Amino acid sequence: MKILHLTDLHIGAKANDTPDMRKRIDFLIRKLTIDRHSVPHLADISPTDLPVVITGDLVDRGIDVGAFSLAKEIFITPLRNEGYPLFLVPGNHDYGTGSAANRTTEAEFHKVFKDEVFARESNNYPVLRWVNDVALIGLNSMEEEVDDDDDGDARGRLGGNQLNLLKSILSRPNVKNATKRVVYLHHHPFFKGFIKKHWMALDDTKELQEILKNQQIDLLLFGHKHEGKTWHGQIGIAKVYDGGTSTGHKNNLSPHRLIDLKTDQPEFDIDLNLLADYQGNRA
Ligand SMILES: [Fe+2]
Ligand SMILES: [Fe+2]
Repeated sequence: MKILHLTDLHIGAKANDTPDMRKRIDFLIRKLTIDRHSVPHLADISPTDLPVVITGDLVDRGIDVGAFSLAKEIFITPLRNEGYPLFLVPGNHDYGTGSAANRTTEAEFHKVFKDEVFARESNNYPVLRWVNDVALIGLNSMEEEVDDDDDGDARGRLGGNQLNLLKSILSRPNVKNATKRVVYLHHHPFFKGFIKKHWMALDDTKELQEILKNQQIDLLLFGHKHEGKTWHGQIGIAKVYDGGTSTGHKNNLSPHRLIDLKTDQPEFDIDLNLLADYQGNRA
């Protein structure tokens, strides 16, 4: 099975950050839908067999009226109509402004994207979903950050409750016996080692690493820093990808990785480079 990793789209971004965001989204969607037969490596895969994991910052400002319905209309619905199974978790920008999160925006996000986040599972994180016998575990790195009164930063916090549930999910026999285990979240778990108080850090990254190591996780996906780097081999996980920003928000062009779960060797994964021939309004 293969997975397509997209992240940090920042749909609705301000014109002075990414003036042509709408064009970029439309181009990307075209490549994944009506033009997909002409995209090398994508052409021979049926969308129904290709889970798309979207690791947060779907929108630029969740707090803005209409931000979620726009993302749904121009991005989520076309992918869903094409048949791709969608796996979404929230990022800091989905919960407010990017630096200030609030409960109202959080609730709205989950109302609009319930199907993409939870599918038919319970409305709780971690989300455990299955594609055939592959277990996909989605974490909400904003879960406790939203109650942080020290706003004005882009940090994340999973919280003890979610971490305990993650531990118990990973110990379930069906998860242990899964063909592969995939974990996905928004915040960067290997952010410059263990800098706890950096304005973009995940507060409880050390605790997360303790839980994930030695659990035979096959693939770890995240976004947030817009760097698109790889962290293979960290805490014993063969493939670790920071997806960057799939729309090239603020001109940080990033890979669109097609990840092959059949192998633990990252060199077989492919950058679809979907914006390669984009002729839009690049600064
Ligand atoms: Fe982002
Ligand atoms: Fe982020």
